[in-house]
Amino acid sequence: MSTAEAALNRESVCPNYVGGQWKASSSGRTLERRNPADLGELIGYASLSTREEVREAVAAAERAFPAWKQQPAPARGRILLKAARLLEEQKEDLARLLTREEGKTLVEARGELVRSINTLEFIAGEARRLKGETLPSELPHNFAYTVRQPLGVVGLITPWNFPFAVPIWKLAPALVCGNTVVWKPSELTPFCSRRVAEILAEAGLPAGVLNMVSGLGEEAGDELVEHPGIAALSFTGSNAVGGAINTKAARRLKKVQLEMGGKNPVVVLEDADLDLAATSTVLGAFGSAGERCTATSRVVVVDSVADRFVEMVAGQASKLTVGNPLDPGTRVGPLVGKEQFEKVLNYLELGKREAKLVCGGEAIQGASEAGGYFIQPTIFDNVQAGSRLAQEEIFGPVLSVIRVRDFEESMAAANSVRYGLTASIFTSDANRIFQAADRLECGMVHVNSPTVGGEAHVPFGGVKGTGFGERECGSSAIDFYSEIKVVYVDFTGRKREGNLY
Ligand code: UN1
Repeated sequence: MSTAEAALNRESVCPNYVGGQWKASSSGRTLERRNPADLGELIGYASLSTREEVREAVAAAERAFPAWKQQPAPARGRILLKAARLLEEQKEDLARLLTREEGKTLVEARGELVRSINTLEFIAGEARRLKGETLPSELPHNFAYTVRQPLGVVGLITPWNFPFAVPIWKLAPALVCGNTVVWKPSELTPFCSRRVAEILAEAGLPAGVLNMVSGLGEEAGDELVEHPGIAALSFTGSNAVGGAINTKAARRLKKVQLEMGGKNPVVVLEDADLDLAATSTVLGAFGSAGERCTATSRVVVVDSVADRFVEMVAGQASKLTVGNPLDPGTRVGPLVGKEQFEKVLNYLELGKREAKLVCGGEAIQGASEAGGYFIQPTIFDNVQAGSRLAQEEIFGPVLSVIRVRDFEESMAAANSVRYGLTASIFTSDANRIFQAADRLECGMVHVNSPTVGGEAHVPFGGVKGTGFGERECGSSAIDFYSEIKVVYVDFTGRKREGNLY
């Protein structure tokens, strides 16, 4: 048994981490977590913490703030580097934990850990570049400069689908800028979250700098949103919840960063390399069982190549092995839980009424006796651009094909959703590539490559109903977690005369 597996059995209820102490929630309420690939396997329980426990965590973060703010930024960065090394050492173990708790395949879990390590390394380097600017003055012997200062206590609310990478890409810049944190992870992945907090603590983060309180969004999450001691909120999750957070936070003038849904298209033109486009589409649509905000959920394909393209994608999709994500041969794991599973099943029924089912369309029991939340990779053809199937985020292994006449129509169809996270364009025409890059309404365009994926040092985020506030990742992450302070310096030693502007 690996260390992470032993940890799962050590204590079945995940405690909170507040003021440097691990303590079970006093609420006595928990949420049971089972392996989504084998419902016979109990993983443990998440604590459902109270509002009072969130308030205690904010108080601990407020107490830790003055000393943490005074630490030189490179010293803060060094802790992140140490955490990167610990993650690297424990990678295999953590990947298995992630797979068992969340359901993504081992290959995908390893990928998520690599991305987390990359983020820690990059942000640790940013610690040495928390730069401001110096600006000349309109007056002689004067100048101004800017410095970055932390915001105070920030609140982070993270989802279950990337329980290592997303928390780390919020925590790392928040901490390096000198903020202290109260973090509410998803109640569906408590054991992964606990490992993140343990690793940061082991890497040397002082008590109270990071506080983790597990609970439900409407209770623990809402307390973070409403608490006057929280200066800024970063949230990844659904569009509906993000909108509600923003409304409440606006009343308290909190700085907000929201990363929400996607309905990402792959656009396939007549001169595309169809083989490349098909393989990329299958990876984007069915990797992580489609539970990824950057997943490909629409194909917008021109009529002249549509039949051939759909056949190629369906041929690959129906060969994907769906099953236990710990098995090396598995390409598509289960959905994370019952709620998500039932939501996707409803979309399958809707699709069968609204469009033409090409492949998949059913749930699968899985190898274990107790079953798991498996759904076949599913493709619907002849989907209307305005239909619910083409408009709503499904977050499952479901792909909708929208046929269009030409490039013009492809751009209109691709842009006809309320979301705007990523989009891919497949063509060999250089002009069309740059036209599409210009016209696609999204935060990230991929050229002849899948809609998924991103790099630690590159900004990540979307437009329209997908993103609000500064981008995550890259240097823009630093912009969100710091304030700029301006200092005007007059070294004339003389009184000013006349009007000052
Ligand atoms: C990725 O697909 O590159 O919740 C990571 C999400 C995103 C993270 C996705 N915020 O799916």
